[in-house]
Amino acid sequence: MLVSAKEMLNKAREGKYSVGQFNINNLEWTKAILLTAQEQNSPVILGVSEGAGKYMCGYKTVVGMVKGMLEELGITVPVALHLDHGSYDGAKACIEAGFSSVMFDGSHYPIEENIEKTKELVAECEKLGLSIEAEVGSIGGEEDGVIGAGECADPNECKAIADLGVTMLAAGIGNIHGKYPENWAGLSFETLAAVKEKVGDMPLVLHGGTGIPEDMIKKAISLGVAKINVNTECQLAFQEATRKYIEDGKDKQGKGFDPRKLLAPGFEAIKETVKEKMELFGSVNKA
Ligand code: 13P
Repeated sequence: MLVSAKEMLNKAREGKYSVGQFNINNLEWTKAILLTAQEQNSPVILGVSEGAGKYMCGYKTVVGMVKGMLEELGITVPVALHLDHGSYDGAKACIEAGFSSVMFDGSHYPIEENIEKTKELVAECEKLGLSIEAEVGSIGGEEDGVIGAGECADPNECKAIADLGVTMLAAGIGNIHGKYPENWAGLSFETLAAVKEKVGDMPLVLHGGTGIPEDMIKKAISLGVAKINVNTECQLAFQEATRKYIEDGKDKQGKGFDPRKLLAPGFEAIKETVKEKMELFGSVNKA
């Protein structure tokens, strides 16, 4: 059964660990992440961007696939199905389709409009027992064609959004999606501490989990981060393993062309990446 992310994130914040959000793209991704969560006895959040939702033939298809897998694979750890960086309409569509959690990213709107739209969606999610993530201060880098400059969040604006009753809050602290550039200044722990000071017990979300050094991840968790999003790292692991399979000529040996064989190394690579992240985030055996 899909669950809201509320309980798992509150437990994570109290226990000083983080739950990973891993973005899905297709059946292999979803199966790899769910099986790893079960093997590691870890709660998990499946992230779906609007682009990935379209790619997988729409949100209803995604809900059907994930629910089917939970049952057929015998997954008993807590799993939330979460819209990543949703628009207002996208959030509504996911609520309708049966997601257990949504993110409304109103960070590109003026703060008043972000507040107004977030408030409406909070009310809707509350009625249905779903969790909702909001964002203040944009996350840099490019994701699904959306390019953010990566500004640090204003702690007072964070408080205004947190007070609307959101479940978790993504605050920009110098983090960016995709690979970090050589000259990246690192996370702004000053901003994170100032946000934490204002929002108290609200679980905080760290986007752009790919490539953040381990010590920074641990420090961020100690300062209230309870959810960390990882996407690019699974894509790179899949790409490298698939490239190796083909470069080694395995696709030309016997039935190596069978897609179930061709995609297997990438599938295993995603499993390994997710396991490493769960260990680093401290969510193993926290189901
Ligand atoms: P990365 O692709 O940098 O891991 O970021 C993922 C993310 O934040 C999804 O919202």
